[in-house]
Amino acid sequence: MSEVRKTIVLLPGDGIGPEVTAAAAAVLRRSAAEFGHHFRIEEHAIGGMALDRFGTPLPEEALAACRGADAILLGAVGGPQWDSLPLEQRPESGLLRLRKELNLYINLRPIRLRAPLQGLSPLAPARATAIDLEIVRELAGGIYFGEHRTERRNGSERAVDVESYTTAEVERVARFAFARAAGRRKRLASVDKANVLATSALWRRTVERLAPAYPDVAVSHLYVDNAALQLILAPQQFDVLVTSNLFGDILSDAAAGLAGSIGLIPSMSCGDGPPLFEPIHGSAPALAGQDRACPIGAILSAALLLREAFGLAAEAAAIEAAVDLVLAGGVRTADLAEPGRSVVGCSEFAALVCEELQAGVQQLDPYGWGV
Ligand code: IPM
Ligand code: MN
Repeated sequence: MSEVRKTIVLLPGDGIGPEVTAAAAAVLRRSAAEFGHHFRIEEHAIGGMALDRFGTPLPEEALAACRGADAILLGAVGGPQWDSLPLEQRPESGLLRLRKELNLYINLRPIRLRAPLQGLSPLAPARATAIDLEIVRELAGGIYFGEHRTERRNGSERAVDVESYTTAEVERVARFAFARAAGRRKRLASVDKANVLATSALWRRTVERLAPAYPDVAVSHLYVDNAALQLILAPQQFDVLVTSNLFGDILSDAAAGLAGSIGLIPSMSCGDGPPLFEPIHGSAPALAGQDRACPIGAILSAALLLREAFGLAAEAAAIEAAVDLVLAGGVRTADLAEPGRSVVGCSEFAALVCEELQAGVQQLDPYGWGV
């Protein structure tokens, strides 16, 4: 494979964000060294730490760097010290604005129960088999970006959040989900609340209208309450799910639980601007600064970045294999450890992944696929 030169903007953010992105950056650097690529990794401020340093959760300089990047890797944003701020000044608004400014209207969250972690699923062993699904979440519209308003009247308050979707907004994310399903097990579940919400009725009509263009893909429609139930009862029935911004946020945390820990799940946000990769977990302030966080979601986000943004499939697979080898060897971060088992920190886990990556790539060489 010929040398690839790319710029990656790293946005560590708050809480455990800096620790998990440092772990992922170490793995990216090792991958570049092993496969002969050049990744320029440029760090910028976002979230609460940007708020404290620059007075805004998304400094213009960070946004400009993101616009010019080949890909973006983010840790997490938010923390209790900023919780009392008005919504538009909170660290989270920096991430939401970044998604909106870059028009990243698709969010992909692969949920996989990894073989060495089978015992960690909260499902009974007979049910916790072969969980491998993808949640496609609409990311630039819906209730997240509608009007948020609080009115005070006669000593009482009334709050309003507006959910709206247009046909075009549903179509563009649904097309992505159909294509994704076509490349997998060819089943698409569209999740809505069409028995109650106008936005959901539009969502369902739009998905149905697109279906004939994808004759290989079997489409089903589920109400979101039933989708939550089905995810827990029989997750194997799902291949690709597509849903709105809010429902996708909720269902993806729930589905992450099936895989054993929310610390394991990566994501890609894409659309018009450079794609953004981030673990789906939060900033976990209680764990911050102690080297106790699970870096797997961030490391797998780096693998997803290599595959989806740079087309480096072998490099991505090598990272995923290295993570599984470390796990198969019994190494666990605190969130993954069965009681009584010894645990490693975030940085040590990353160092072990780097070692396995190096060993794995050297094994590939004689067959002529690596470098
Ligand atoms: C996520 C997060 C964000 C969201 C927060 C931090 C705004 O929960 O990426 O799932 O709700 O989209
Ligand atoms: Mn979330």
